[in-house]
Amino acid sequence: MRIYILLLFSLFFFINCKTKAPEIGVISEKAMVVSARKEASKIGVAILQKGGNAFDAMVATELALAVAYPYAGNLGGGGFMVYRKKSGEIGALDYREKAPLASTHNMYLDSIGNVIEGKSILGAMAVGVPGTVAGVFEAHKKFGSLAIEDIIQPVIDLAKKGVIVTEKQEKRIKKHQPNFLKVNKNPILFDKAWKKGDTIKYNALAETLIKIQQNGHDEFYKGETAKKLVQFIQQNGGIITEEDLANYKAKWRTPITFKYDDLKIISMAPPSSGGICLAQIMKAIEPYEIDIYGHNSVKTIQTITEAERRAYADRSHFLGDPDFIKIPIKKLISEEYATERMSNFSFEIPTSSTAISHGTVNFSESTETTHYSIVDQFGNAVSVTTTLNAAYGSKLYASELGFFLNNEMDDFSSKPGVPNMFGLIGAEANKIEPEKRMLSSMTPTIVEKDNKLFMVVGTPGGSTIITSVLQTILNVHEYKMGMQEAVNQPRFHHQWLPDDIKMEPNGFSKGVRAKLKQIGYILDETNSTVIGKVDAILVLPNGKLEGGADHRGDDKAIGF
Ligand code: GLY
Repeated sequence: MRIYILLLFSLFFFINCKTKAPEIGVISEKAMVVSARKEASKIGVAILQKGGNAFDAMVATELALAVAYPYAGNLGGGGFMVYRKKSGEIGALDYREKAPLASTHNMYLDSIGNVIEGKSILGAMAVGVPGTVAGVFEAHKKFGSLAIEDIIQPVIDLAKKGVIVTEKQEKRIKKHQPNFLKVNKNPILFDKAWKKGDTIKYNALAETLIKIQQNGHDEFYKGETAKKLVQFIQQNGGIITEEDLANYKAKWRTPITFKYDDLKIISMAPPSSGGICLAQIMKAIEPYEIDIYGHNSVKTIQTITEAERRAYADRSHFLGDPDFIKIPIKKLISEEYATERMSNFSFEIPTSSTAISHGTVNFSESTETTHYSIVDQFGNAVSVTTTLNAAYGSKLYASELGFFLNNEMDDFSSKPGVPNMFGLIGAEANKIEPEKRMLSSMTPTIVEKDNKLFMVVGTPGGSTIITSVLQTILNVHEYKMGMQEAVNQPRFHHQWLPDDIKMEPNGFSKGVRAKLKQIGYILDETNSTVIGKVDAILVLPNGKLEGGADHRGDDKAIGF
């Protein structure tokens, strides 16, 4: 009898282990890369093993994601990097796309001032001037240690060898094929009915990477690739010129930094809203004892929801490209402002979003964009979020060059009061102007504790990026979870408008949901199957690293 019970117990345990994501992530001694695909993490780690540093691995991982994860990894998009060197020096690199010189504030409106549906979303008119190649070359120029040719080589090899299609990728390609057909004049690589287990070879992309390897940054912005790219965009009705590409520069920014208890948070500055919004939310909840209220308890959800409501209400009113507008950063992330904003919060009744002034952000369901975290064997850390905006960007694929082009222009406000594809309603601060960078939610973040590196974290997910990064940090800091456990937890999201709490389905108990509803909150568990896809690294008390790779995707932590 005892043996049967034991067998039954083992079977139960086995089934549970098979269906549940592990609670402890990959542990490594010295270095780690966590990204959306194992092929990219592997290449990043191989560069570290060759003696390269986190910045060399950043170049390799970024380019490898363009091959292995064309859904969001890119040459035709842009991104942000936040870094912390072993010395404690911090900084941020902005390689966000820009509006073309020929762009105008009303370029997506018809003659009577209505938004032309889809014009900023699909096809060549949606494309912003890409920044990714400039970003990797700038990071390498300042901090790289290995020869760039050697860093690019394994990415070229991967493109030629090909990448195996996963089940999730098969579904994604299938889902977006109607738009590939709609946007592209000629058949593209992704029109085929790719199945799980097939290998896709990226020969055209390999050729482009070889040219970049041989001729450097200028190949993409002034060389043959630039000319071909401009010709292709213009043939498809776009307005990007050779001058736009030649003018593009990645920019070093001062990251947003702030304290939360004994943590120092280092996050992305404008043109991303990520750092400021994260700071506003964390400063607002800091006085509340959410550790005592409990993880994902009613009171904790209320406190975070009300802080999010207020921060998102400010977001698009105040934020945009800092080279074009003045942003009151100091005030927005101050303790006094947080206290003032939370002064009308009560546990008895939800604050109505209509009672909160400023801000115009609606929900984004996007799981596009991608994030990777790196810690090297020297103690340097980089946190990078990169994107084409939507899944496969504008869906316009330059077959000769082998990559998709972004639709980042949709992150501008096409018309104040009218939502973009993510439901974001535009404000003046984020209106389209030539050479301006569009507002982002990307939140690559690094956390210090006791002046030492503690965590590297980030995620895709549109406007849910900020709240997913927030909850991951809180899960570790307030609820003492490990990295993988923190990443696994169900997440919720509120962003002022619509006035509801998005919750991952099946992630919250019946009791918690019933109580929130009873207090007066509206819950949405239908629209939000995935909130974020966090890839993060935690420095454990013994100095080892724990990777948290999100089971919501094909993400993978690899270390040594
Ligand atoms: N395109 C998504 C973001 O930048 O937030």
